[in-house]
Amino acid sequence: MHHEGDPTMILAPGLDEQQDDIQALLGSGLGWLKASRFRLLTITDPAAARRWLGELATKGLVASVAQVIDRALRPQQLCAVAFSHAGLDRLGVTPAEDFPFPTAFRSGQGSSLRQSLLRDPPRDEWQWSDCSEVAGVAAAHILLGHWWPDGAELSLPALTGVATVREVNGCPRFFNRGFLEEPFGFRDGLSQPLILGLRPDDGSAAPGPAPSTLRPEARDHVIAAGEFILGYRNEYNELSYCPDVQGWSPPPRGPAACSRFALNGSYLAVREIEQHVEAYRAFDRGRAQVAGCPAGASAGELMMGRRRDGRPLTSPAEPPPGPVDTKNDFRYRVEDAQGFITPPGSHVRRSNPRDTLGHDVASGIRSAKLHRLLRRGRPFRRDDQSVGMFFIACNTDLERQFEFVLQRWIHNPGFAGLEQQDDPLVGEYGARARRNLSLPGLPAGQCLSLASLTTTVGGGYFFLPGLRAFKFIAQVRAEPAR
Ligand code: HEM
Repeated sequence: MHHEGDPTMILAPGLDEQQDDIQALLGSGLGWLKASRFRLLTITDPAAARRWLGELATKGLVASVAQVIDRALRPQQLCAVAFSHAGLDRLGVTPAEDFPFPTAFRSGQGSSLRQSLLRDPPRDEWQWSDCSEVAGVAAAHILLGHWWPDGAELSLPALTGVATVREVNGCPRFFNRGFLEEPFGFRDGLSQPLILGLRPDDGSAAPGPAPSTLRPEARDHVIAAGEFILGYRNEYNELSYCPDVQGWSPPPRGPAACSRFALNGSYLAVREIEQHVEAYRAFDRGRAQVAGCPAGASAGELMMGRRRDGRPLTSPAEPPPGPVDTKNDFRYRVEDAQGFITPPGSHVRRSNPRDTLGHDVASGIRSAKLHRLLRRGRPFRRDDQSVGMFFIACNTDLERQFEFVLQRWIHNPGFAGLEQQDDPLVGEYGARARRNLSLPGLPAGQCLSLASLTTTVGGGYFFLPGLRAFKFIAQVRAEPAR
């Protein structure tokens, strides 16, 4: 696509030469760092907060993709830092008039506008957000993620100029034999997009997945970089929109590279979701094997749409001997169009319907690729033993990706021809009333009824800047006009 009068938009920069500017979180799930802590901070003194951010930068604690992809460079601890719109404003970062931040990020996930668009429950039930209007709690301005190996926490520069709104501790206990398991006991983090052109962090030297060598079903997960990293070509073959800010003038890097502030950044859609383990166990135990279910799956597995060990429901109930094959290169339309095996309303089939929503397999895959999320959250456990998921989805278009998935699929009571039911795991529809999950083909009753299994207690949208932009934010001197 040609952008008249905007020469910087003609060519995307080479992803390979930008990997030292892209925050590590976009290139890796950081699986070798099993302990984590997420802090939501509100800025009390912008000048002191900038000095603290500057210290994180100069100590090299905010790692890049280049460091995590090369196993020899992998740091033993690292941070990711992201800012809400209110946070950027508080730090004196002023949007350029011609290239403002998009509406969803500007309004904030905690706003009542987003609440109604996302079909969420009232925001006064949340305990924190990126907007100050929620429950009288100060707005989260900064999201600081910190990962380190299991064991004693490594120290960071003391927080200055900020106050903690919320602290959520990721719990290493949720790693089982090296694999992430969410608090209900399911393998998690399996179905992830493979970013085209980005080196995998598995130690192989190949520059990103070579689509031509993959099976067609595996190619379904190879997604254009511009869906997750700002400034690159997306699934429409257009450069993802890059906002700019006043006073930003980076050293030029490569010909015609988009040189705006947001290049190499991403938006994080964050939700803190409590999980009710007793309610889940009672539900799963009560209907251990759902009679007549062709998959021979438990109620919990039908609700999730995967087996607990991560295998798709179309695989045999008893795993063959040897390592578990949690294959992700499967589709629904060919083996299971009507959802007799993987229920159409199950969590995974709603959050990524794969090939089912188009006129045929190819159009279904094409449209699903426009709504993929890169999931980087971690399960948490609090001192009072309550557990849940600190959910983080990275994307470049909040409205087309995170918000679409939530509004049209997860929270949609009429999704895929179903009636008056939403996602059985994270749906909010009728949360206080009876909730149902349709199971096509069951002779006895069409639905499983289930209690509310989760409660969302907070959320926000954060901009994860590239490292040059991060240093710029830390050093901006002008105080915002208040
Ligand atoms: C307590 C909260 C949640 C838990 C415990 C949870 C758990 C899981 C599990 C076990 C899987 C299957 C394994 C995998 O493919 O990685 C999965 C897949 C997925 N989840 Fe969630 N999830 C939660 C919240 C959410 C939310 C809020 C969203 C979106 C807004 C979401 C989006 C997805 C997506 C996109 C997939 C991949 C589906 C696929 O490609 O097949 N999840 N989740």
